Amino acid sequence: YTSEAYNIQRDPKFAEVTADDVAFFKSLLGSESAVVDGVTADATDDIEPFNSDWMRKYRGHTRLVLKPQSTEEVSKVLKYCNERKLAVVPQGGNTGLVGGSVPVFDEIVVNTSRMNQIRSFDQASGVLVADAGVILETADSYLAERGHLFPLDLGAKGSCHIGGNVSTNAGGLRLLRYGSLHGTVLGLEAVLPDGTIVDSLSTLRKNNTGYDLKQLFIGSEGTIGLVTAVSILCPPRPRAVNVAYFGLESFEHVQKAYLEAKNQLSEILSAFELMDGRSQGLVHTSTGNKYPLEGEYPFYCLIETSGSNAEHDMAKLEAFLEHVMGEGIVADGVLAQDETQFQALWRWREGITESLSHLGGTYKYDVSIPLAELYQLVEDCNSRLTEMGFVGDDDSFPVRAVVGYGHMGDSNLHLNVSVRQYNKEVEKAIEPWVYEWIQKRNGSISAEHGLGIAKRQYIGYSQNETMVNLMKQLKGLYDPNGIMNPYKYI
Ligand code: FAD
Ligand code: MLT
Ligand code: ZN
Repeated sequence: YTSEAYNIQRDPKFAEVTADDVAFFKSLLGSESAVVDGVTADATDDIEPFNSDWMRKYRGHTRLVLKPQSTEEVSKVLKYCNERKLAVVPQGGNTGLVGGSVPVFDEIVVNTSRMNQIRSFDQASGVLVADAGVILETADSYLAERGHLFPLDLGAKGSCHIGGNVSTNAGGLRLLRYGSLHGTVLGLEAVLPDGTIVDSLSTLRKNNTGYDLKQLFIGSEGTIGLVTAVSILCPPRPRAVNVAYFGLESFEHVQKAYLEAKNQLSEILSAFELMDGRSQGLVHTSTGNKYPLEGEYPFYCLIETSGSNAEHDMAKLEAFLEHVMGEGIVADGVLAQDETQFQALWRWREGITESLSHLGGTYKYDVSIPLAELYQLVEDCNSRLTEMGFVGDDDSFPVRAVVGYGHMGDSNLHLNVSVRQYNKEVEKAIEPWVYEWIQKRNGSISAEHGLGIAKRQYIGYSQNETMVNLMKQLKGLYDPNGIMNPYKYI
């Protein structure tokens, strides 16, 4: 997808990068911090990885990528860009799923990979302060050595940056236990487009001194400033962790299992994830791994418990298993016996996104819907696409599979329509139908991935005019020249 697919024109108010600009940035940052292509003769590394997203779905045409190493460098870069009216896209690990992290035209990519230092960790409070470019898994491993845990986990942990996580307000696999980043992030450091350094890197849990401005940066997808550091509350690492994987006969059974898990496992429940049969079929095909259960089921769920006392947790878990299996809520199940099995079971959930990416194109819808109707959207979408002649048994049909999975504990469904090739007719059959479906149920068209470019036209399905106007006013206040991540949702 390029700008033509969205019918967007390059805004002529933005300047084009010149050889003088490149010379300025190189003198400021050092030539190893700039990837240049097509501006001067000295093309360095391959610039393409910065121009296309993780799904290889969205593609821009930047000629310059900058990798500052400090907040001061970011400040000088943005100030210069603002004065020259050069548009900018902040980029972390480039694992975002809505095309927000890549340019649309020739915006300069400011990548945080060189800002990767842990600044401090306080054992008593569990507060970690780290640069935006620290990779999520690196932060979690650092914390693991100190008996703590990063309160966010997701399938892209090996590549995504904590600044990118905060900027997308990523939810992930354990939100039900550790809460949203709006609660766990205690402070932020960010740079505004005019170069102002916003030092709000508080490590305090309580701080009621006026507007909580850091919240604006959480989930704003690089549209008002560039996050350079994060202060975050990290809980003690649980000493006992268990995972169970279940097969279930219907979505009603899944709902019952969820209620039982909440009631019976309560404080030790740390994840309740939903996978439909088709999603597990895709993981099976792409990995070649043997299914965890003997039979095949229309629904599966993965339940994780985390606590401080293994015996206590196991007693609770066994009572829960006995109940859900005895009552016929769960048809079959398996409990991880060791760390290897624990990881293997999680892969059946975490591996879905990657398995889908091997198939061709994917239309992704990351939505919040009241629990009772969570899976109905997948059924309705499948029926609609089948009736319209897009889904069928052989390779001549454009849609390979309509798949549902997600974070059941957060009422967050991932509806994915896997296609052999991106196909405008299929897209038109889904959008805006899917957004209307969600609006009717007062749901959200973006639960955790953000809006980026993929959903730029659809914010009105989840936010009213007053809210959108307030957002535009804030955007104007923070970024009057509109250089930060233009052409995206705001
Ligand atoms: P990028 O992709 O680089 O950027 C994402 C957005 O944030 C862009 O708009 C970018 O401009 C902006 N941005 C990045 N860094 C900064 C910064 N320092 N300052 C200001 N703006 C910035 N998301 C979930 O919520 N839950 C999941 O379970 C989940 N699982 C995933 C699994 C896989 C396999 C993949 C590929 C993605 C998944 N995601 C998930 C999506 C994605 O949001 C996260 O991977 C992650 O939060 C993005 O971080 P990043 O560093 O890659 O950001
Ligand atoms: C997930 O929950 O697996 C992620 O949000 C990624 C996706 O939606 O595919
Ligand atoms: Zn998710």
